[in-house]
Amino acid sequence: MATFLKTTEISIDGARTLPREYYTSPEIFGHELEHIFTKRWLCVGREDRIPNAGDWFTQQIGKESIIVLRDREGGLRAFYNVCRHRGTRICEEHSGQFSSTIQCPYHAWTYDLEGRLIGAPHIRVARRAAVKIPQQFASPDDLGLLRLPACCLRPSP
Ligand code: FES
Repeated sequence: MATFLKTTEISIDGARTLPREYYTSPEIFGHELEHIFTKRWLCVGREDRIPNAGDWFTQQIGKESIIVLRDREGGLRAFYNVCRHRGTRICEEHSGQFSSTIQCPYHAWTYDLEGRLIGAPHIRVARRAAVKIPQQFASPDDLGLLRLPACCLRPSP
């Protein structure tokens, strides 16, 4: 088993903290977002925060808001917090519980807990009105919430 030492208990000759700009520079932060935070696994919370199907919380990662939720099968899922219709933010709160669906507050597009689009009232209206529907709206399967990889790390038994 690894031994962890408090930083205050470690003395390394010549060690220094990072220069100030590493804590304040928007350019360095942008570089970190591009090369680290959008490319690597990030710990966003403990899974016991969302024990039941439909439980969710949001996490800001750079400019993006992410929804992390427990699906119907008990799995963890993560989606961009953006409706596929007009880009409305779906969850404005930090946590909560979806019933069995996720509904956008703007035009009521509705997704299941796996992120699939299962209801889009205005698409039917648009089709009846013979409005040309853009190619990306051709199939509801193409219009699910944009997914991110999610997993839970557990200690070995
Ligand atoms: S923006 Fe979400 S349903 Fe229209």
